Amino acid sequence: MTFDLIIRNAALPDGRTGLDIGVRGGRIAAVERAIAAEAGRVVDAAGHLVSPPFVDVHFHMDATLSLGLPRLNQSGTLLEGIALWGELKPLLTHEAVVERALRYCDLAVSQGLLAIRSHVDVCDDRLLAVDALLEVKRKVAPYLDLQLVAFPQDGYYRSPGAVDNLKRALDKGVEVVGGIPHFERTMADGAASVRALCEIAAERGLRVDMHCDETDDPLSRHVETLAYETQRLGLEGRVAGSHLTSMHSMDNYYVSKLLPLMAEAGVAAIANPLINIVIQGRHDTYPKRRGMTRIPEMRQYGILCAFGHDCVMDPWYSLGQADMLEVAAMAIHVGHMTSREAMRFAFDAVTVNPARIMGLEGYGLEVGCKADLVLLQAKDPIEAIRLKATRLAVVRGGRIIAETPARLSRLSLEGRPETVDPASYAPLG
Ligand code: FE2
Repeated sequence: MTFDLIIRNAALPDGRTGLDIGVRGGRIAAVERAIAAEAGRVVDAAGHLVSPPFVDVHFHMDATLSLGLPRLNQSGTLLEGIALWGELKPLLTHEAVVERALRYCDLAVSQGLLAIRSHVDVCDDRLLAVDALLEVKRKVAPYLDLQLVAFPQDGYYRSPGAVDNLKRALDKGVEVVGGIPHFERTMADGAASVRALCEIAAERGLRVDMHCDETDDPLSRHVETLAYETQRLGLEGRVAGSHLTSMHSMDNYYVSKLLPLMAEAGVAAIANPLINIVIQGRHDTYPKRRGMTRIPEMRQYGILCAFGHDCVMDPWYSLGQADMLEVAAMAIHVGHMTSREAMRFAFDAVTVNPARIMGLEGYGLEVGCKADLVLLQAKDPIEAIRLKATRLAVVRGGRIIAETPARLSRLSLEGRPETVDPASYAPLG
């Protein structure tokens, strides 16, 4: 028996070590100790972690890498970011959006990020960004799964034309229904938008992912309506609420009612820790709220939770490098999730959990799964997050599509080692 590729002596995210992964025909064909077979290519993992690829379930690829166009966000607020994006929108060209998105996908691949759910703004009668990202989706399909969400950035009811534009975007092939209920003119309009958008998803058999309650207002409770409509329309397991930052500020008693409702409805939660920590709490003096939604508490109710990057070098956020380990690290800090169990969960929240929310077929490390893998310069998931570990190799369909040299510093110190390998400091066990 021969393989196209064997990765030898790998550690897996579930804690197993010393395993070989055999790949044939673009799929994982064996995961066992000491595979005795030939292979077209053999990679020695040397005990390092092999994971399925990173997944970013919340991103804005139509805005990425546009930092400074046409100007910078001076206040750093969400509302100035939305206004700034509104200034940029008429200036966008198809070619520029495609080029920036492709460049971002290059960066993503180098970071082992091979699946991205991107919202695409439909509040532009030209649907220029929709056409551009559909083209990008086709172009990157061989190496990156791009799932698009029809997102009415300026409000489904508040923005003239958005109702029609959203339908047109779905007709063109955008596959997830978005929304922004807290940005509608009234609470009633927000609730009505959730109802209408969920009905569209139910009619078309689509998933839902709404920017929901991205505000510090504890009375912004659209996630309650989202859970209700999910159950009413039988959309369980296909709906996600993104951001949910108002929950950070909600009354504890109300949350104790809300979380079981979300769990019953099978509504997933997507936090965006890098963005939440800089965008929320902006009207506070001191203490300043962190804004990230209640991930540890939602986990206790069995709600599926994931973390997204949301933004990289755009009107809302001027930093970022497509590194989902940086996202996980921020979540751990913001959410006080420093137990070993919670840190291991944070790794799942940028890999297997978002893959489930996106409905990715063949994702994982079991035999039969797609041979999409990342070899990290770390021994386990916690060390990977600690180090923002180097992606030594990125595999797509059994083929190595990106490689990065190991991080290794040379020292010139009397009586000390000659090199420092950052991945050699993990505690045992
Ligand atoms: Fe977003």
